[in-house]
Amino acid sequence: MTTVHTSVLLEEVLDDLSVQPGAVYVDGTLGGGGHTRALLEASAPDGRVLGIDQDPEALERTREFLKPFGDRFQSVHGNFGNLLELAREAGFDQPDGVLLDLGVSSDQLDTPERGFSFRFDGPLDMRMNPDAGVALSDWLAEVEESALAQVLWKWGEERQSRRIARAILEARDAGILTGTEALAQVVEQAVGGRKGARIHPATKTFQSLRMAVNQEMDVLSSGLEGALHLVKPGGRVAVISFHSLEDREVKQVFRRHEGREVSLYEGGSRWEGDEPRVRTMHRKPRMAEERERDDNPRARSAKLRTVQRLETT
Ligand SMILES: C[S@@+](CC[C@H](N)C(=O)[O-])C[C@H]1O[C@@H](n2cnc3c(N)ncnc32)[C@H](O)[C@@H]1O
Repeated sequence: MTTVHTSVLLEEVLDDLSVQPGAVYVDGTLGGGGHTRALLEASAPDGRVLGIDQDPEALERTREFLKPFGDRFQSVHGNFGNLLELAREAGFDQPDGVLLDLGVSSDQLDTPERGFSFRFDGPLDMRMNPDAGVALSDWLAEVEESALAQVLWKWGEERQSRRIARAILEARDAGILTGTEALAQVVEQAVGGRKGARIHPATKTFQSLRMAVNQEMDVLSSGLEGALHLVKPGGRVAVISFHSLEDREVKQVFRRHEGREVSLYEGGSRWEGDEPRVRTMHRKPRMAEERERDDNPRARSAKLRTVQRLETT
């Protein structure tokens, strides 16, 4: 089985992390291993990378793909919400850089049995780690209409959240919510059809349900804190996000660690912020060039933010 996932902002990540021969990296979202492979190549001959992923299928496939790098590549199954502990246990304390490339991979989206996509029929699952958590079908079996509408509104920015939530739960109670295709149809009908729209009317619903099932916003802040505490002083943390709420969270966490100088009543100033201190590599997030955006539609919404941990903390 080969990977179909195309890594986004590859050159920009290597540039932001300033990858050096012999350096050590942690990739908290290994996926198809494209970024990790580039890190291994750029840190040759003896650089090392630890890849973490919560998806056992991705890990198995990518271990095979990265076999040529021998013991320069290591991997561990786990959630980057526990990045600090996972990396330290694997002997990767104080790496030169950490990368998080958030969300799902094309491999996950394109596998109908994983239940991520409205483009195929599959079970209502959507768990990135099928060995843990609650599948979408079980989550939907319990959820209240108001809570469902809230998820669609908050994480999907879905303007018709209430109408869609009601339709989904009616379909559930009627026993017709049998899979991803049925769910997509229910959403499409609830909003009155496609109306010539370019994107499928269930896109936002699927995205927000995936974020709820995988508790993506909850683990993001602990993953970011873990990365900042793990990386060595002078090392860098790069994060690619695809969702405005994720990008906002990344920006806010980085800002808190960047801190600010506060003027004191008695004169002078004092730095206030969260430890460890960082500096932002570029104020605006880096986005894909036009060529990459044309070649890879996923790249269109990708935003890269990178900070460097300061030597003095
Ligand atoms: C966008 S893909 C990464 C692609 C990768 N950078 C590449 O070049 O192939 C995201 C991957 O991160 C994993 N993932 C998402 N959230 C995670 C989390 N909280 N902990 C661990 N892995 C996670 C997903 O299972 C998926 O394989």
